[in-house]
Amino acid sequence: MTTHWILGPGAIGRLLAHSLAPFVDVAVVGRRALPARQVLTTLEGEVHVRYLNSLTAEKLVADTPEPPAFVHITTKAMAAEAALACIASVLPPSTPLVLWQNGFYSQPRITTAWPGPVLCATTTQGAYLTGDDGVVHAGRGLTFVGDLDNQHAGLAESLAALLSETGFTATAVGDIRSRLWQKLAVNAAINPLVALHSVRNGELRGDAYSGRVVVVVKEVAAILAKEGVVPPNGGEGETGWLALVWQVVENTANNKASMLQDVEAKRLTERGAILGPLIERAERHGLGCEVLKGLDQELAQVEVGF
Ligand code: PAF
Repeated sequence: MTTHWILGPGAIGRLLAHSLAPFVDVAVVGRRALPARQVLTTLEGEVHVRYLNSLTAEKLVADTPEPPAFVHITTKAMAAEAALACIASVLPPSTPLVLWQNGFYSQPRITTAWPGPVLCATTTQGAYLTGDDGVVHAGRGLTFVGDLDNQHAGLAESLAALLSETGFTATAVGDIRSRLWQKLAVNAAINPLVALHSVRNGELRGDAYSGRVVVVVKEVAAILAKEGVVPPNGGEGETGWLALVWQVVENTANNKASMLQDVEAKRLTERGAILGPLIERAERHGLGCEVLKGLDQELAQVEVGF
Protein backbone atom coordinates (compact mmCIF):
# COMPACT_ATOMS: atom_id res chain seq x y z
CA MET A 1 0.00 0.00 0.00
CA THR A 2 1.29 3.49 -0.71
CA THR A 3 1.61 5.86 2.20
CA HIS A 4 0.39 9.43 2.50
CA TRP A 5 1.67 11.63 5.29
CA ILE A 6 -0.56 14.46 6.42
CA LEU A 7 1.38 17.21 8.07
CA GLY A 8 -0.88 19.42 10.17
CA PRO A 9 -3.91 17.68 11.69
CA GLY A 10 -6.38 20.60 11.52
CA ALA A 11 -9.90 20.20 10.15
CA ILE A 12 -8.98 19.68 6.49
CA GLY A 13 -5.99 17.49 7.42
CA ARG A 14 -8.18 15.20 9.51
CA LEU A 15 -10.99 15.11 6.96
CA LEU A 16 -8.35 14.12 4.40
CA ALA A 17 -6.94 11.46 6.74
CA HIS A 18 -10.37 9.88 7.31
CA SER A 19 -11.13 10.00 3.60
CA LEU A 20 -7.80 8.51 2.46
CA ALA A 21 -7.48 5.87 5.20
CA PRO A 22 -9.63 3.18 3.54
CA PHE A 23 -7.53 3.44 0.36
CA VAL A 24 -3.90 4.12 1.39
CA ASP A 25 -1.74 3.98 4.51
CA VAL A 26 -2.04 7.29 6.33
CA ALA A 27 0.18 8.90 8.95
CA VAL A 28 -1.05 12.09 10.60
CA VAL A 29 1.87 14.19 11.79
CA GLY A 30 1.57 17.08 14.20
CA ARG A 31 3.37 18.99 16.92
CA ARG A 32 1.72 16.64 19.38
CA ALA A 33 0.28 13.18 18.82
CA LEU A 34 -3.51 12.96 18.67
CA PRO A 35 -5.47 10.04 20.12
CA ALA A 36 -5.38 7.10 17.70
CA ARG A 37 -9.17 6.77 17.91
CA GLN A 38 -10.57 9.47 15.64
CA VAL A 39 -14.21 10.19 14.88
CA LEU A 40 -15.59 11.63 11.65
CA THR A 41 -19.17 12.94 11.49
CA THR A 42 -20.19 12.81 7.86
CA LEU A 43 -22.41 15.25 5.97
CA GLU A 44 -25.26 12.79 6.43
CA GLY A 45 -24.69 12.81 10.20
CA GLU A 46 -23.15 9.29 10.27
CA VAL A 47 -20.42 8.72 12.82
CA HIS A 48 -17.34 6.82 11.62
CA VAL A 49 -14.65 5.74 14.06
CA ARG A 50 -11.17 5.09 12.69
CA TYR A 51 -7.86 4.31 14.31
CA LEU A 52 -5.35 6.58 12.61
CA ASN A 53 -1.59 6.45 12.90
CA SER A 54 -0.95 9.79 14.58
CA LEU A 55 2.53 10.85 15.64
CA THR A 56 4.79 13.80 16.25
CA ALA A 57 7.31 14.96 13.70
CA GLU A 58 10.14 13.97 16.11
CA LYS A 59 8.82 10.44 16.44
CA LEU A 60 8.34 10.12 12.71
CA VAL A 61 11.90 11.24 12.02
CA ALA A 62 13.31 8.97 14.76
CA ASP A 63 11.48 5.96 13.29
CA THR A 64 13.30 6.37 9.92
CA PRO A 65 10.18 5.39 8.00
CA GLU A 66 9.76 4.13 4.44
CA PRO A 67 9.40 7.15 2.13
CA PRO A 68 5.79 8.16 1.52
CA ALA A 69 4.13 8.46 -1.89
CA PHE A 70 2.81 11.94 -1.03
CA VAL A 71 3.22 14.45 1.78
CA HIS A 72 0.15 16.65 2.23
CA ILE A 73 0.87 19.85 4.11
CA THR A 74 -2.38 21.01 5.70
CA THR A 75 -1.00 23.50 8.23
CA LYS A 76 -1.93 27.18 8.30
CA ALA A 77 -0.20 29.12 5.52
CA MET A 78 2.48 30.70 7.67
CA ALA A 79 3.44 27.37 9.30
CA ALA A 80 3.90 25.27 6.15
CA GLU A 81 7.62 25.81 5.57
CA ALA A 82 8.55 25.17 9.20
CA ALA A 83 6.45 21.99 9.23
CA LEU A 84 8.18 20.71 6.11
CA ALA A 85 11.60 21.55 7.58
CA CYS A 86 10.83 19.30 10.60
CA ILE A 87 10.54 16.17 8.45
CA ALA A 88 12.65 17.06 5.40
CA SER A 89 15.63 15.01 6.67
CA VAL A 90 13.71 11.74 6.18
CA LEU A 91 12.20 12.63 2.80
CA PRO A 92 13.85 11.73 -0.50
CA PRO A 93 14.13 15.03 -2.43
CA SER A 94 11.89 13.61 -5.17
CA THR A 95 8.91 13.17 -2.79
CA PRO A 96 5.77 14.86 -4.13
CA LEU A 97 4.29 17.48 -1.82
CA VAL A 98 0.69 18.69 -1.85
CA LEU A 99 0.12 22.16 -0.39
CA TRP A 100 -3.39 22.84 0.92
CA GLN A 101 -2.80 26.37 2.23
CA ASN A 102 -4.90 29.48 1.70
CA GLY A 103 -3.40 32.54 0.12
CA PHE A 104 -0.34 32.73 -2.12
CA TYR A 105 2.59 32.67 0.26
CA SER A 106 3.78 29.14 0.98
CA GLN A 107 3.01 27.86 -2.53
CA PRO A 108 5.57 29.87 -4.57
CA ARG A 109 8.17 29.65 -1.79
CA ILE A 110 7.98 25.86 -1.39
CA THR A 111 7.68 25.32 -5.16
CA THR A 112 10.99 27.16 -5.58
CA ALA A 113 12.75 25.54 -2.64
CA TRP A 114 11.65 21.89 -2.91
CA PRO A 115 13.51 19.81 -5.54
CA GLY A 116 10.63 17.38 -6.13
CA PRO A 117 7.16 17.97 -7.55
CA VAL A 118 4.96 20.40 -5.60
CA LEU A 119 1.22 20.27 -6.20
CA CYS A 120 -1.13 22.89 -4.82
CA ALA A 121 -4.69 22.10 -3.82
CA THR A 122 -7.53 24.48 -3.26
CA THR A 123 -10.75 23.24 -1.75
CA THR A 124 -14.14 24.49 -0.69
CA GLN A 125 -14.76 21.40 1.44
CA GLY A 126 -16.02 22.59 4.82
CA ALA A 127 -14.91 20.93 8.07
CA TYR A 128 -14.47 21.82 11.71
CA LEU A 129 -12.87 20.15 14.71
CA THR A 130 -14.73 19.06 17.79
CA GLY A 131 -11.66 18.40 19.92
CA ASP A 132 -8.55 16.25 19.68
CA ASP A 133 -10.48 13.25 18.41
CA GLY A 134 -13.30 14.62 16.29
CA VAL A 135 -13.90 16.31 12.96
CA VAL A 136 -17.21 17.20 11.32
CA HIS A 137 -17.57 17.31 7.54
CA ALA A 138 -19.76 20.41 7.34
CA GLY A 139 -20.04 21.19 3.64
CA ARG A 140 -19.42 19.36 0.38
CA GLY A 141 -17.04 21.36 -1.77
CA LEU A 142 -14.88 21.09 -4.86
CA THR A 143 -11.15 20.47 -4.85
CA PHE A 144 -8.72 21.47 -7.59
CA VAL A 145 -5.14 20.24 -7.89
CA GLY A 146 -2.25 21.38 -10.05
CA ASP A 147 1.26 22.76 -9.93
CA LEU A 148 2.28 26.37 -10.41
CA ASP A 149 4.46 25.69 -13.46
CA ASN A 150 2.26 23.07 -15.13
CA GLN A 151 4.98 20.47 -15.15
CA HIS A 152 3.27 17.69 -13.23
CA ALA A 153 -0.08 17.23 -14.95
CA GLY A 154 0.13 13.42 -14.73
CA LEU A 155 0.81 13.48 -11.01
CA ALA A 156 -2.03 15.96 -10.45
CA GLU A 157 -4.34 13.67 -12.46
CA SER A 158 -3.43 10.62 -10.39
CA LEU A 159 -3.89 12.48 -7.10
CA ALA A 160 -7.23 13.93 -8.24
CA ALA A 161 -8.36 10.43 -9.24
CA LEU A 162 -7.42 9.04 -5.82
CA LEU A 163 -9.09 11.95 -4.01
CA SER A 164 -12.25 11.46 -6.08
CA GLU A 165 -12.30 7.79 -5.11
CA THR A 166 -12.21 8.83 -1.45
CA GLY A 167 -15.26 11.08 -1.81
CA PHE A 168 -13.60 14.42 -2.48
CA THR A 169 -14.80 15.90 -5.78
CA ALA A 170 -11.35 16.59 -7.15
CA THR A 171 -10.16 17.77 -10.56
CA ALA A 172 -6.65 18.24 -11.92
CA VAL A 173 -6.30 21.69 -13.49
CA GLY A 174 -3.73 23.63 -15.48
CA ASP A 175 -4.65 26.97 -13.93
CA ILE A 176 -4.12 26.41 -10.21
CA ARG A 177 -2.21 29.70 -9.94
CA SER A 178 -5.31 31.68 -11.01
CA ARG A 179 -7.54 29.59 -8.79
CA LEU A 180 -5.36 30.29 -5.75
CA TRP A 181 -5.47 34.03 -6.51
CA GLN A 182 -9.24 33.90 -7.02
CA LYS A 183 -9.71 32.30 -3.60
CA LEU A 184 -7.26 34.80 -2.12
CA ALA A 185 -9.31 37.68 -3.60
CA VAL A 186 -12.45 36.41 -1.88
CA ASN A 187 -10.58 35.83 1.37
CA ALA A 188 -9.08 39.34 1.25
CA ALA A 189 -12.52 40.90 0.82
CA ILE A 190 -14.19 38.91 3.59
CA ASN A 191 -11.74 37.68 6.20
CA PRO A 192 -10.03 40.84 7.53
CA LEU A 193 -13.29 42.78 7.89
CA VAL A 194 -15.20 40.02 9.67
CA ALA A 195 -12.19 39.20 11.87
CA LEU A 196 -11.69 42.84 12.92
CA HIS A 197 -15.37 43.42 13.63
CA SER A 198 -16.30 40.00 15.05
CA VAL A 199 -19.18 39.47 12.66
CA ARG A 200 -20.42 36.54 10.61
CA ASN A 201 -19.92 36.76 6.85
CA GLY A 202 -23.55 37.70 6.11
CA GLU A 203 -23.29 40.91 8.11
CA LEU A 204 -20.99 42.34 5.44
CA ARG A 205 -24.12 42.91 3.33
CA GLY A 206 -25.44 45.52 5.78
CA ASP A 207 -24.88 49.28 5.57
CA ALA A 208 -22.14 49.21 8.21
CA TYR A 209 -19.76 47.13 6.07
CA SER A 210 -20.90 46.86 2.44
CA GLY A 211 -19.12 50.06 1.39
CA ARG A 212 -15.91 48.80 2.96
CA VAL A 213 -16.17 45.54 1.02
CA VAL A 214 -16.49 47.57 -2.19
CA VAL A 215 -13.33 49.60 -1.52
CA VAL A 216 -11.32 46.48 -0.66
CA VAL A 217 -12.50 44.78 -3.85
CA LYS A 218 -11.58 47.88 -5.89
CA GLU A 219 -7.95 47.62 -4.75
CA VAL A 220 -7.85 43.84 -5.16
CA ALA A 221 -9.33 44.05 -8.68
CA ALA A 222 -6.70 46.58 -9.79
CA ILE A 223 -3.86 44.42 -8.45
CA LEU A 224 -5.17 41.22 -10.00
CA ALA A 225 -5.72 42.93 -13.35
CA LYS A 226 -1.98 43.73 -13.37
CA GLU A 227 -1.24 40.12 -12.45
CA GLY A 228 -3.40 38.89 -15.34
CA VAL A 229 -5.83 37.09 -13.03
CA VAL A 230 -9.47 37.34 -14.06
CA PRO A 231 -12.55 36.50 -11.98
CA PRO A 232 -13.98 33.00 -12.53
CA ASN A 233 -17.14 32.25 -14.54
CA GLY A 234 -16.58 34.91 -17.17
CA GLY A 235 -16.92 37.83 -14.73
CA GLU A 236 -15.01 40.96 -15.68
CA GLY A 237 -12.88 43.38 -13.69
CA GLU A 238 -14.12 45.03 -10.54
CA THR A 239 -17.77 44.13 -11.21
CA GLY A 240 -16.85 40.48 -11.70
CA TRP A 241 -14.85 40.34 -8.46
CA LEU A 242 -17.60 42.11 -6.55
CA ALA A 243 -20.25 39.73 -7.87
CA LEU A 244 -18.09 36.77 -6.81
CA VAL A 245 -17.51 38.18 -3.33
CA TRP A 246 -21.21 38.89 -2.75
CA GLN A 247 -22.04 35.39 -3.98
CA VAL A 248 -19.64 33.83 -1.45
CA VAL A 249 -20.94 36.13 1.31
CA GLU A 250 -24.46 34.95 0.47
CA ASN A 251 -23.47 31.27 0.39
CA THR A 252 -21.54 31.51 3.66
CA ALA A 253 -23.73 34.10 5.43
CA ASN A 254 -23.84 32.07 8.62
CA ASN A 255 -20.12 31.21 8.67
CA LYS A 256 -17.57 32.44 11.10
CA ALA A 257 -14.72 32.93 8.64
CA SER A 258 -11.41 31.23 9.36
CA MET A 259 -9.68 34.51 10.24
CA LEU A 260 -12.38 35.38 12.78
CA GLN A 261 -11.95 31.92 14.30
CA ASP A 262 -8.18 32.56 14.51
CA VAL A 263 -8.70 35.91 16.24
CA GLU A 264 -11.19 34.40 18.68
CA ALA A 265 -8.73 31.63 19.51
CA LYS A 266 -5.89 34.20 19.77
CA ARG A 267 -3.99 32.45 16.96
CA LEU A 268 -1.89 34.41 14.49
CA THR A 269 -3.98 35.05 11.39
CA GLU A 270 -3.20 34.30 7.76
CA ARG A 271 -2.92 38.01 6.92
CA GLY A 272 0.66 37.42 5.71
CA ALA A 273 -0.56 34.88 3.14
CA ILE A 274 -3.69 36.78 2.06
CA LEU A 275 -3.01 40.51 2.37
CA GLY A 276 0.78 40.15 2.18
CA PRO A 277 1.00 38.92 -1.44
CA LEU A 278 -1.54 41.54 -2.59
CA ILE A 279 0.37 44.39 -0.93
CA GLU A 280 3.67 43.07 -2.29
CA ARG A 281 2.25 42.85 -5.86
CA ALA A 282 0.65 46.32 -5.56
CA GLU A 283 4.02 47.80 -4.62
CA ARG A 284 5.72 45.95 -7.46
CA HIS A 285 3.20 47.41 -9.94
CA GLY A 286 3.29 50.91 -8.40
CA LEU A 287 -0.37 50.68 -7.34
CA GLY A 288 -1.76 52.24 -4.17
CA CYS A 289 -3.31 49.84 -1.69
CA GLU A 290 -3.96 51.98 1.37
CA VAL A 291 -7.10 50.07 2.35
CA LEU A 292 -5.36 46.69 2.27
CA LYS A 293 -2.38 48.08 4.18
CA GLY A 294 -4.74 49.57 6.76
CA LEU A 295 -6.46 46.21 7.28
CA ASP A 296 -3.09 44.49 7.57
CA GLN A 297 -1.93 46.97 10.21
CA GLU A 298 -5.16 46.68 12.17
CA LEU A 299 -4.81 42.89 12.21
CA ALA A 300 -1.16 43.19 13.22
CA GLN A 301 -2.28 45.33 16.17
CA VAL A 302 -4.83 42.70 17.18
CA GLU A 303 -2.16 39.97 17.00
CA VAL A 304 0.14 41.93 19.31
CA GLY A 305 -2.36 41.19 22.08
CA PHE A 306 -2.10 37.38 21.63
O1 PAF B 1 -11.69 31.60 5.15
C1 PAF B 1 -12.89 31.32 5.14
O2 PAF B 1 -13.56 31.19 6.15
C2 PAF B 1 -13.56 31.05 3.81
O3 PAF B 1 -12.59 30.93 2.83
C3 PAF B 1 -14.60 32.08 3.40
C4 PAF B 1 -14.88 31.97 1.93
C5 PAF B 1 -14.16 33.49 3.74
C6 PAF B 1 -15.90 31.76 4.03
O4 PAF B 1 -15.95 31.85 5.41
